[in-house]
Amino acid sequence: MATDDLVLYEKRGAVAWLTLNRPSVLNAVNLAMRDELWVLFQAVRDDPDVHVAVITGAGRAFCAGADISEFGTAPSLVESRRARRERDLWQLMLDIDKPLVAAMHGYALGAGLEMSLLCDFRLAAEDTVLGLPEVRLGYIPSAGGTQLLPRTVRGSLAREMIMTGQPIDAERAHQAGLLTKVVAAPDLANEAEALATALAERPPSALRAAKRALRSAFEMPLAQGLAVESALAARLASAG
Ligand code: COA
Repeated sequence: MATDDLVLYEKRGAVAWLTLNRPSVLNAVNLAMRDELWVLFQAVRDDPDVHVAVITGAGRAFCAGADISEFGTAPSLVESRRARRERDLWQLMLDIDKPLVAAMHGYALGAGLEMSLLCDFRLAAEDTVLGLPEVRLGYIPSAGGTQLLPRTVRGSLAREMIMTGQPIDAERAHQAGLLTKVVAAPDLANEAEALATALAERPPSALRAAKRALRSAFEMPLAQGLAVESALAARLASAG
């Protein structure tokens, strides 16, 4: 792990810790950081010794969103679309069938909040400001935010956040079901560790099946989702 890495990667037991590491710009996600995340989340997916991953931020924020200074600097629209197709980080995160935990503090804006929506658990320090400001800049969220936020909180709040760009505080986010838990800022790392460790003790095959079944609930009609649940349950029962 080199200190100039844009994302620090550390394995502690069966838990992989990914720490966004551009603290001077509040961990804004630039293309280089995205490429590092692409490699590291593949490691999370493929390493059989990793059962759970936690993503967190160095410095005073989790992540202030995409790096604004890179906006409009991509070589060409065609090039940037091709790069995105070839390295679809957000889909990669969604497809990982191990629990992902986001541990947020300070700011979770734009792609920062969206990354957390691609996780299964969202812990936040009570000082966290959460929002999707893209519309204010003439864009819309494009790391899954317009699809995942309404699947996570009620539609009226998703509309408010996406269409006004106005952020909300951690307490409101928790009340709306956006957060798993709000914790005192100094406790964030310990709380994340406790959750991740507890998850890492569950049988990975059961967690894998649970994630697949939960995903079906959002993607399939009920009858089809129930069939997926039955098949997954039967497979676990026959293996056990
Ligand atoms: N992209 C690039 N740089 C960013 C950034 C982003 N998304 N967010 C913050 N930074 C940089 C700032 O430019 C500043 O750099 P500087 O010290 O070289 O001037 C540094 O991070 C600290 O930010 P600063 O604005 O001074 O901190 P603050 O506490 O006063 O405000 C925010 C924090 C998050 C409210 C403010 O930085 C902000 O609005 N950032 C943009 C958020 C955004 O729109 N993200 C979504 C992009 S789609």
